[in-house]
Amino acid sequence: MRIGLLRETAPRERRVALIPATVQRLVQQKHEVLVERDAGTAAFFPDQLYRDAGASIVDSAAAAMAGADLVVKVQPPDAGQVGAMKQGAVLVSLLAPHASGPLLDALAQAGVSALALELVPRTTKAQSMDILSSQATVAGYQAVLTGASRMGRLLPMLTTAAGTITPGKAFVIGAGVAGLQAIATAKRLGAVVSAFDVRPVVKEQVMSLGASFVEAEAKAEGAGGYAKELSDDQQARVLEAIGKHIKDMDLVITTAAIPGKPAPRLVTRAMVESMRPGSVIVDVAAETGGNCELTKAGEDVVHAAVTILGPRNLASSLPRDASFMFSKNVQALLEHAIKDGALQVNVEDAILGPMAVTHAGAVRYGRN
Ligand code: NAI
Repeated sequence: MRIGLLRETAPRERRVALIPATVQRLVQQKHEVLVERDAGTAAFFPDQLYRDAGASIVDSAAAAMAGADLVVKVQPPDAGQVGAMKQGAVLVSLLAPHASGPLLDALAQAGVSALALELVPRTTKAQSMDILSSQATVAGYQAVLTGASRMGRLLPMLTTAAGTITPGKAFVIGAGVAGLQAIATAKRLGAVVSAFDVRPVVKEQVMSLGASFVEAEAKAEGAGGYAKELSDDQQARVLEAIGKHIKDMDLVITTAAIPGKPAPRLVTRAMVESMRPGSVIVDVAAETGGNCELTKAGEDVVHAAVTILGPRNLASSLPRDASFMFSKNVQALLEHAIKDGALQVNVEDAILGPMAVTHAGAVRYGRN
């Protein structure tokens, strides 16, 4: 197969979809890999490493895609890139399918079979391909470091000749993949950590990381192990519990999400005003509307001497290791999908079926 790897052009995107080690493996499996110049440079994988891995470096995205049976990238392609893909090609990338109707139509019209990486099933068999988990792991870690670096105080307890510093208190709201990694990271930095989530199974996971669990008498587990939206009653109980707890916190990391819905509002303006000056909130859900009422995506807000950070694409701010994991996930997907040297999009397959948002000239997303 001929495989094209593209350089990312979206703002703030520093990751690359395949790292040289994965390319080397594909080359060993007798595939030809064309890499757009500087595809990995922003993630600290220079062109020479791709050459050493056996790839050819080409000058443009169009050249990387010319005749390619498989095109791999991180972010969704733009219209020009879709136009440069050959009919019958397979595209593997993030596609934000719930918000990309025109893009999916264009891919279907171009005869491209697109596999959306957001739609890897959250099953044990597909765990090694689960990009949402790998990138959320990076985001949870980075959220804590970003917040810690903006606080007015230290996180660990220190006993020094200049007196004793008490440990900082960190509170993680939403303890999925990103939240659990945030808990572990804050613990490693010496904080006293607490967490809250609406899925009952999470309590044990939180406690196993050495954090305490904030109780709110609101349980909302939906399909596939995901959370669902809260009733008004449950929402009121949750806000009451968070409100009581948050005023004593130095660092708050919010990661609460419900698939396909705006982020639930869990931190109000009044709660922010109850917090101590110098505390920090890092809203990992900023891009889907924010868990905090005062969050502005991509901006830093200071309100009542509390800093509220709304970072976008946190995983991209650690591009090397985020790309390492992204690439390993794609490699596992390709090893599952490539049979006899060719990538067959078998829509009956339990992993590829849900991911195939376009196939055989039609849009499948939302119709399967
Ligand atoms: P997510 O990013 O969709 O949501 C983050 C967290 O926010 C979740 O823990 C959710 O319960 C929580 N949340 C939602 N509404 C909330 C509210 N009102 N208040 C507080 N917390 C709220 O979650 P993520 O990290 O993508 O994980 C989702 C599910 O997928 C989990 O059940 C997880 O165990 C499962 N999973 C399964 C995998 C596998 O089997 N391969 C791999 C990774 C995750």
